[in-house]
Amino acid sequence: MENLIKKTARDLAKSKKVIALTGAGVSVESGIPPFRGKGGIWEKIDPMEFAHIDSFMRDPAKVWDILIREMKDVVEKARPNDAHIGLARLEELGILSAIITQNVDGLHQLAGNTDVIEFHGTFALQRCLKCAKKIETAKVSLDEIPPKCECGGILRPDCVFFGEMIPPQHLFRSSKISRECEIMLVVGTSAVVYPASNIPGDAKKSGAKIIEINPENTPLTGSISDYIIKGNAGKVIKEIVSEVELLL
Ligand code: OAD
Repeated sequence: MENLIKKTARDLAKSKKVIALTGAGVSVESGIPPFRGKGGIWEKIDPMEFAHIDSFMRDPAKVWDILIREMKDVVEKARPNDAHIGLARLEELGILSAIITQNVDGLHQLAGNTDVIEFHGTFALQRCLKCAKKIETAKVSLDEIPPKCECGGILRPDCVFFGEMIPPQHLFRSSKISRECEIMLVVGTSAVVYPASNIPGDAKKSGAKIIEINPENTPLTGSISDYIIKGNAGKVIKEIVSEVELLL
């Protein structure tokens, strides 16, 4: 692992066209549970029953009660960890130009990254189903479930539910920067949810080197990714950044 960290640092230090694709694993060390694997949310509840748009429309109170209420609490308490901080440092050093994240927690922006494509939307805002007005999640009271807008419409997170389209502007830009990058860091994603799961393959086809950081293998490992650095994102990224700083 030591060697792979040094190798990654050398590649990063030489390149100005690095982007990252991140998933729930990057926020695990911030106290936000992942969806799959050990302690995963989908182990406890069925995503089709609680995270599909049809389920939300059928019974918004149930989805707010079981999933969104807890998410609000967990996300509001979370702070960037060494993985988010390290990726922000790589931007500051002029190495990392953008992050495509499947996460909705806003922690990359809080750490300081300025170009973050929120592929699955954001949990920072709620959107009214009736008038489409957006309200900061932090300002939404949970005294009434489901919470409502001033106009009386029900609020929903400004995130992509299963069964919904990825915002087209995010698809377009992600695809463009993936085709242009030299290195893609793929951090903390199980790479099983389409279309985000196709992003590393698209980058690879355009000639990018794909480096995974994840304690577990994924469907990309040994096929799409050039190699995997096995470990927790916080520790691995911190070590990579220290090595990069020695090389600059
Ligand atoms: P998953 O929960 O599917 O996968 C989390 C990944 O993070 C796994 O591969 C873990 O091995 C890895 N992991 C766990 N702890 C880690 C750590 N400390 N450091 C690095 N990696 C770690 O999360 P995503 O791939 O992001 O979609 O899931 C994709 C989408 O599925 C989510 O955006 C969400 C979900 O359903 C929607 O809600 C639309």
